[in-house]
Amino acid sequence: MPKEIYLDNSATTKPYEEVVSEMVKMLTKNYGNPSSLHKKGIDAEREIKKSRETIAKALNIKTNELFFTSGGTEANNIAIRGVALANKRRGNHLITSVIEHPSVLNTFAYLEKEGFNVSYIKVDKNGIIDLEQLKQEIREDTILVSIMHVNNEVGSIQPIKEVRQMIDFRKSQAILHVDAIQSFGKIIFTPKELGVDLLSISAHKLHGPKGVGALFVRKGILIEPIIYGGSQELNMRSGTENVPGIVGFGKAVELTFADLPNIIAKMNKLKDNLRKGIVEKIENAFVNGQADSQSAPHILNISFPGIRAEVLLHALESEGIFVSTGAACSSNKPSPSHVLSEMGIDSKCIEGAIRFSVSSFNSEEDIEHCIQQLPVIVKQLKKYVRR
Ligand SMILES: Cc1ncc(COP(=O)(O)O)c(C=O)c1O
Repeated sequence: MPKEIYLDNSATTKPYEEVVSEMVKMLTKNYGNPSSLHKKGIDAEREIKKSRETIAKALNIKTNELFFTSGGTEANNIAIRGVALANKRRGNHLITSVIEHPSVLNTFAYLEKEGFNVSYIKVDKNGIIDLEQLKQEIREDTILVSIMHVNNEVGSIQPIKEVRQMIDFRKSQAILHVDAIQSFGKIIFTPKELGVDLLSISAHKLHGPKGVGALFVRKGILIEPIIYGGSQELNMRSGTENVPGIVGFGKAVELTFADLPNIIAKMNKLKDNLRKGIVEKIENAFVNGQADSQSAPHILNISFPGIRAEVLLHALESEGIFVSTGAACSSNKPSPSHVLSEMGIDSKCIEGAIRFSVSSFNSEEDIEHCIQQLPVIVKQLKKYVRR
């Protein structure tokens, strides 16, 4: 068996060992329901409070502005549907971009069916939204603008501060939601300095567990809950809390933020070396988007024209190297990447696009091994294609 080299960290990350042991502790000892009035409940509630404090501190927000959810998808759903429902008397118009994650795009598609009017902001060849179009689209009845921070397929960083400035410039009351699932723990920011009202994050992208996320809701922002029940999370998200998940999330944030500048520098270096190695050694390989300091430190999207990405993915897998052909969340439907199409990449290159995504768990040797293996595999596959 070849050594495992995991380069699919945008899809998900391996949890920290400390995260796993904290979670096991919550499952075996601290298994109470936080709503229970006895000691077991109080102990569980205390652990949730600790996690909330850790994550709120990392975001520089108040603890009563952070709500735990079942993941990034749910945080996005609550933000978008919640704002639309609570503010529909003020207006019927919503704005998002064409390169959002399906958890955002499909929520807007649902709201369109419900009678809301949605404008989609286009992107340039680097996957950056068109601020001029945004300026034109903001209207008196616009109640929500939802733009992702870092794109999960190409790593482009959206100009969120400028989006806020544009909303203010148009004297609009629109609420600004940001899907920060690929930027939390990868870029240093706070919702306040970006001017964001709502912000979604997810634990499994920064070495925490799957199935837990959170939504920042700035004080004063009106949201209608979309799940009804026992009024947990101040009624924003009913349902017995995922205590082990929340505790694991808190631990992952604590560990990541204790060393964030170094983690970011390491990812940037690994990504840079990988990009240079591939582009130097493989003829025609080219980077989709801006894979320099203008983009997220962990995502590198490269096209190998003439090769089908899925075939390359499996050939790499047989060498122990795990990558992705695009967004993992939508890879069960083999449709071409909507992000690359919107960036104007031609279909041959979309067909051959691979997403490499690093984390601080990767080593220089991982990258070196990948750079050695790739040209050999690509050469073999190209021979096969020509026949
Ligand atoms: C940009 C973005 N938004 C939302 C999600 C969904 O998050 P989760 O997997 O926690 O539901 C993902 C996950 O891939 C993502 O990359």
